Amino acid sequence: MADDATPGAPAPTSTGSPKRIQWGTRFGFILAAAGSAVGLGNIWKFPYITGVYGGGAFVIVYLVCVLLVGLPLMIAELMIGRRAQKNPVGAFQKLHYEGSPWKYTGWLGVASGFLILSFYSVISGYVLAYIVKSFQGFSGSPDQIRAQFDALEADPTMSILLHTVFMVIAIWIIARGVQKGIEKCSKVLMPLLLALLVALAFHGLFNTEGGSEAVSFLFQPDFSKLTAEAILSALGHAFFTLSLGMGAMITYGSYMKRDAHIVRDAITISFLDTAIALVAGIAIFSLVFAYGLEPDAGFGLIFKTLPVLFADTGPIVAVAFFVMLFWAALTSAISLLEVVVSYFIDQRGWNRTRATIAMGGTIYALGILSAISAIKLPFRGEDTGFLLIFDYITTNYMLPIGGLLTCLFSAWVMNDLTRREEFGSSGFWYRALIITLKFVTPLAVLITLLHGLELLPFMEY
Ligand code: PHE
Repeated sequence: MADDATPGAPAPTSTGSPKRIQWGTRFGFILAAAGSAVGLGNIWKFPYITGVYGGGAFVIVYLVCVLLVGLPLMIAELMIGRRAQKNPVGAFQKLHYEGSPWKYTGWLGVASGFLILSFYSVISGYVLAYIVKSFQGFSGSPDQIRAQFDALEADPTMSILLHTVFMVIAIWIIARGVQKGIEKCSKVLMPLLLALLVALAFHGLFNTEGGSEAVSFLFQPDFSKLTAEAILSALGHAFFTLSLGMGAMITYGSYMKRDAHIVRDAITISFLDTAIALVAGIAIFSLVFAYGLEPDAGFGLIFKTLPVLFADTGPIVAVAFFVMLFWAALTSAISLLEVVVSYFIDQRGWNRTRATIAMGGTIYALGILSAISAIKLPFRGEDTGFLLIFDYITTNYMLPIGGLLTCLFSAWVMNDLTRREEFGSSGFWYRALIITLKFVTPLAVLITLLHGLELLPFMEY
């Protein structure tokens, strides 16, 4: 699809603008959008932050955020994108007026894409390393296996090398716009990833000692553990994992066909994304408890727990798992890059190759900061590496603020007739969505942001 999405392309549509290239099939769109949503966020990040924030109560807040904030916003972003047929910056201007200040919402999204991809690529690089390690097989005591990850993270040369390889692959794909290849592979690999995760979760639940403990850790809420920061992170994670608040879904929506059903597709994508995170959580926490590990091991959690199991299962399962995780990461990374690149193509008139190489290169350079874990800055009372700083700022602030603005735009600024056309009906569900977007979603985001900053007037901090 996207390789033809250059300006000056073919025949005008009924709206008078040049025709934008579209997804081949509905299934193709779902795969691409689900490919964007399902990524490291589900398998690396969800278990790790759930562990850090103490389990059940955090999971409940996250699920509420997906339902009240994520799903409505995904519908809104897809509507904006398909209507405007543009990148995020252009979309806000087109649906309002040229030069409208809403364009800054689009810019915020482009900036978020920039920062997120810079550290996302470093984690994806670790996944690459674990593919190689899987071929060699994991051996030794659980402590030795865990120490391997600490050694990798502490090695700047290796981390930069892996980050380089990953970025080169992402740049190559986006520069060529080889959606066909990606769509084809995704059709096979995404269902396989799901199947393997379900198998691992089953194994964890029924073959290990940790199954029931994992289930109670994930689903038995202890609200006394819920800090203001945990609530903010749950909201931020809902944005991150569904690829919302930065225009990725606006961009992907802009390639959607007129007759595609936005609401149905948004529900499918959100459901899939959430299910995969929960299944991954069960798989990983069963192991954590079975091997007596700590759930709050931090961002290395999956690299420290799964290989302990893989030492018993042998290399095939390990290789399969990390290859699929790599694939999930790649399809998310390219959507991050696509947002930035589509902005330079549509708004600045660059050609795809130039935009991809220039922006991919800049993001790569920025990512080096995250790859060198020894560079630390004081952040929230601790010396913290760039990877976690960028992650925290984008997830907890940039995405929610971008999402809040997008939501306000769709609810209060966008023309009602336009919206109804995009939604496909004006019945009960349409009215429910608009009321949610007008009041519920923005209030939920605002309150959470203020609570996270410990600024809510009626709370004691
Ligand atoms: N949703 C992706 C994940 O869960 C990350 C992402 C965030 C992708 C924002 C695009 C936009 O891994």
